Amino acid sequence: MKLLFLGDLLGRAGRDAAIKAIPELRAKLKLDFVAVNAENASHGFGLGPDMADALFKAGADVITLGNHAWDRREIIPYIAQEKRLIRPLNYPPGTPGQGSALVTLADGRKVLIAQAMGRLFMDPLNCPFMTMDELLTRHRLGNSLHAIILDIHAEASSEKMAFGHAFDGRVSAVVGTHTHIPTADHQIFPRGTAYCSDLGMCGDYDSVIGMSKDAAIARFIRKMPGERLTPAEGPATVCGAFIETGEDGLATRIEPVRLGGRLRPTLPEV
Ligand SMILES: [Fe+2]
Ligand SMILES: [Fe+2]
Repeated sequence: MKLLFLGDLLGRAGRDAAIKAIPELRAKLKLDFVAVNAENASHGFGLGPDMADALFKAGADVITLGNHAWDRREIIPYIAQEKRLIRPLNYPPGTPGQGSALVTLADGRKVLIAQAMGRLFMDPLNCPFMTMDELLTRHRLGNSLHAIILDIHAEASSEKMAFGHAFDGRVSAVVGTHTHIPTADHQIFPRGTAYCSDLGMCGDYDSVIGMSKDAAIARFIRKMPGERLTPAEGPATVCGAFIETGEDGLATRIEPVRLGGRLRPTLPEV
């Protein structure tokens, strides 16, 4: 199976670039499944229902969120109805929406995707390791489940890497989101799980993690609340990872995907 996961879409620049790229990449990379993180799609903060609809229409199978899940409140009734939109699994019981989605592809194969949020330098949620472990006791790679993809939405690369190793051999891939900076540590762990600490954002990299530079720099210098941060709106780089799995659902390949904007482009040969 061939899968693509795109990192945090940042504002209009990231959204438009991803909506244009998804159908092209689906064809070019012969993709079976596409996931995107869209917690920053709406002007840097949250996701609007119309934006989610546009991403599904462009060919996203699942959208993940993160700590910005609720920045646009209209998403609360939407997520209650839309099983293809997920938020972190380890939010308290009673939080709207689901932390995982089981998707049946057109050819009948099934993919499970789940998101957990880290706790280092982030909100003190339930344990991401124990919560994910509990989900995975109910879903195993095998004859009726062809791929399992985990999104670890976290700040610290140590926590992300530990999370990846903790589920090595039980899932097809563990990929990180949230930092908006792509890491170059794509690898397949010893028991067969593909891993990358952060997919990077889909957004304008002439920015401070996607937001306009001047206001972001001023916040660091003056240490006072200043201008509201707004997304940088130059050409976006579409950033993510391509993952290929074998018959057993474990990974045979993971490679970076970068397209457009300022970062050096790279696309896997398929
Ligand atoms: Fe985040
Ligand atoms: Fe983000």
